[in-house]
Amino acid sequence: MNAQTNHNREARNILIQNDRGGYTVPTAGLYPYQWNWDSAIAAFGFATFDISRAWQELETLFSGQWEDGMVPHIIFHKPDPSYFPGPDVWHCSGPIASTGITQPPVAATMARKVYEQDKAAAAPILKKLFPKILAWHRWFIQWRSDDQNAICITHPWESGRDNAPEWDAALKNMTAEGVGEYTRRDTSHVDPSMRPTKFDYDRYIWLVQQGASLNWDQQKLLEQNPFRMADPTTTFLLLRAHKDLLALGTELGLDVSGIQDDIALLTKGAESLWNPEIGSYDARNAHTGAFAGCQSSASFLCWFAGIENATQLEKLDEAFGNTNHPIASHPTTSEHYDSRRYWRGPTWAFMNMMIGIGLADQGHKEQAERLRAATADLIRSFGFAEYFDSTTGEAAGGQSFTWTAAVWLAWINPNERRD
Ligand code: DGY
Repeated sequence: MNAQTNHNREARNILIQNDRGGYTVPTAGLYPYQWNWDSAIAAFGFATFDISRAWQELETLFSGQWEDGMVPHIIFHKPDPSYFPGPDVWHCSGPIASTGITQPPVAATMARKVYEQDKAAAAPILKKLFPKILAWHRWFIQWRSDDQNAICITHPWESGRDNAPEWDAALKNMTAEGVGEYTRRDTSHVDPSMRPTKFDYDRYIWLVQQGASLNWDQQKLLEQNPFRMADPTTTFLLLRAHKDLLALGTELGLDVSGIQDDIALLTKGAESLWNPEIGSYDARNAHTGAFAGCQSSASFLCWFAGIENATQLEKLDEAFGNTNHPIASHPTTSEHYDSRRYWRGPTWAFMNMMIGIGLADQGHKEQAERLRAATADLIRSFGFAEYFDSTTGEAAGGQSFTWTAAVWLAWINPNERRD
C-alpha cells in the first residue's frame, strides 16, 4: 500500500470518527459540536466516498436555522460540559440549542460541489435546501451590510478567524466590564500559547453576554453592538456562495429573482474592502470607517469570489516567498506575526483550498498548483492538524481535524475514488 493510499484511508477515518450521527465535530475534545463552516467543508470531503452522508451533513446544519434565516455558528445537538461557552451562556431560542451568531457562509458553494458529483440524486435534496440557503444569504444582506455593501461580523468568532489582528483595535476600544468569572475550556485542550489571550477572551464573552441580554434582536444589536467589522472572509465567501446559489437555482428551475441584483451589490461591497494604503483587501470598522491595516489569508479569497486584482496577486507571490509553509494567516513580515497563535500567523489547509480553488477558477493555474503542493506537503509531513505553524510547518491546535481531512480528500487528492 503506498503512502497516498494510507493518507486517503486516514482522512476517511477521521471523518468517520468525528461523525456524531448526521453531523461531524471539527475535532473531539476542543470542538465537540457541529460548527457551521467546518460542517460545509466536511460535506465536500464526505462526497468523495459517501454522497448521501455529505447531504446529511448540510441538512443537519440547516436543521438549526433560526426563523429569521440565520444559521448559527455552533449547533449544540447534545450537551457537552467540556465546552465553554455552552447553551446556558448563549440563551438562544432557535429550533435546536445554538449560539446566537453565524459564521462565513460556504454551504452553498460546497452544496454545488457535491451536486456536481451526482446531479440526479441531489436535485430533490437541493430543492429543499435552496430556500433555506437563500434565506440565510438574505439575512446577511439585510442585517450585516455596511454602508458600502460589505458584510460585517458582530463578534470575532463570526469571522471564523477569531483572534486575527484585524479585530485588535476594535476590541481595545471596548470594555469587558461586568463580564464576571468564568472558566475557559479551550486552554485545557490545547497549549494556551496557541489560543487567544485573556484580554481577547473577556471581550468575546462580554459580546456573547450582550447579545443574550438583547435576545439576539438584530435591530438592537445593530444599534448597540460596539463590535461591527466589515470582513473580507464573510464578504468574499458570501459573494461566491450567492453566485453558486444562483447557478444551482437556475439549473434546477427555481425562483432566482433578485439574486443577480444582490450579487452586483455584494461585488461593490467586496471591492470597497480594498485598502490602497496597504495594497490589499482589508477589514474595515463599520462604526468608524477605519481600515484595520492588515493583509490576511482572507485577502486572497478575492479570486474565490470571482474578483481579479493584480496587486493582490503580487502580494501572493510575496506570501509564497516569505515562508515555506504558505499562506500565513497574517503576514510573516508584520510586527503582529505569531507563527503558532490562532489566526495571527499559522497556516490553515482549508483556507488554502478555497484560495487555490479561486486561483484555478480565475486561470491562475500555476499559483493554484503551487499552493496545493505546499498544502499536501504540510499534511504529509505533519498530519491532519487543525492548522500549522507557518514558520516550521509543525502541527498546531487540535489533531485529527475534520476540515483538514476533507481538504486532503476533496482537493489534494481529487482522484481518490479511482485509487
Ligand atoms: C472556539 O470555541 O474558540 C471557537 O473558535 C469559536 O468558534
